[in-house]
Amino acid sequence: METEIINISKSNNKEEIYNKLITYYKDNKLIAIPTETVYGLSADATSDEAVCKIYEAKGRPSDNPLIVHFYEMNQLNDIVDYQDERVDKLIENFWPGPMTLILNAKENNGISKKVSAGLSTLAVRMPSNKTARQILKETKVLLAAPSANTSGKPSPTKFEHVYHDLNGKIDVIIEDEQSDIGLESTVIDCTRTPLVIARPGEITKEDIEGILGLGSVKYNDEVMVDTQTPIAPGMKYRHYSPEAELLYYEDSLEKALEFLKTKNKKTGFITYKSNEYLFENLNISVKYLADNEKSVEQSNKNLYNILREFDEEKVEEIYILPIKETKENIALLNRLNKAISRK
Ligand code: TXA
Ligand code: MG
Repeated sequence: METEIINISKSNNKEEIYNKLITYYKDNKLIAIPTETVYGLSADATSDEAVCKIYEAKGRPSDNPLIVHFYEMNQLNDIVDYQDERVDKLIENFWPGPMTLILNAKENNGISKKVSAGLSTLAVRMPSNKTARQILKETKVLLAAPSANTSGKPSPTKFEHVYHDLNGKIDVIIEDEQSDIGLESTVIDCTRTPLVIARPGEITKEDIEGILGLGSVKYNDEVMVDTQTPIAPGMKYRHYSPEAELLYYEDSLEKALEFLKTKNKKTGFITYKSNEYLFENLNISVKYLADNEKSVEQSNKNLYNILREFDEEKVEEIYILPIKETKENIALLNRLNKAISRK
């Protein structure tokens, strides 16, 4: 299959492109689109055939459900059922944006059963990225879209990452800018009380408590003590991993420097710009997550891109010093811990 690359913002006939996308979705084609979190691999959520093709192209286990992306609230009310002030407030404050809600699905809502992988709930999201919104608005299609990477790899934050993983396996890649946020959306299970954060993201527990009050929400780990089963099935898989082994260097920066002096270009190190001067004479590959440890937004935006850059350089082992947990960096540490190799 030839993968077509389309840049909507550079085209002077946008209408023609949207008409083409409408036809493509109708024909069950797979189209990678930008979002503010990461690039998504989209297809018509009402078509069994289209949804099956998503799982196939990514090599994704069929028990890991997908998120439905939509443009406006009418569309949401057709597919899920809720009467819950908490949900109303979350929507008012955080949509469009990097938040996914798990809600009870309406019966016979037209969404392919394969989207929710047999669950009676449905994950839904109204993205804020301009191009994504425009595509949703113009095509009027409900889009099932997981991240547009090969299953297990870091999610794509640049269209080149999508090309690397899925060229020849999908029909179209919409070329756009680097994803603003760089980590996947916060997934909130709204069928429970308190609410449960099934996957941490840019919108934090404190952000939610700021709207709904203290104690209104818990992390998945705090509620799964008995069952050990994560609410979001996807969170049980090892994830986001580069080809290289990513390992914590559990010691000081000084000790790490000593250790890295004995290494060559096959070794990578992830640190902050503020430490750049220390690495000038080393022979290893050094990459900077952000200016300093406090720059969490920068770190989120860069993490997956850095992991993919090391792979391009054929680095075999990557070290990073453990990062101290704060209220802001829960999502970053969640992804990093999942990417770390277990020896
Ligand atoms: O930011 C994002 O959410 C990106 C962009 C493209 O929107 N999408 C994304 O999709 O990260 P994906 O498929 O890589 O992750 C979706 C997560 C998985 O962990 C999945 O198990 C969970 O959401 N999920 C989906 N439907 C669910 C449901 N009904 N109940 C529980 N978890 C669900
Ligand atoms: Mg994913």
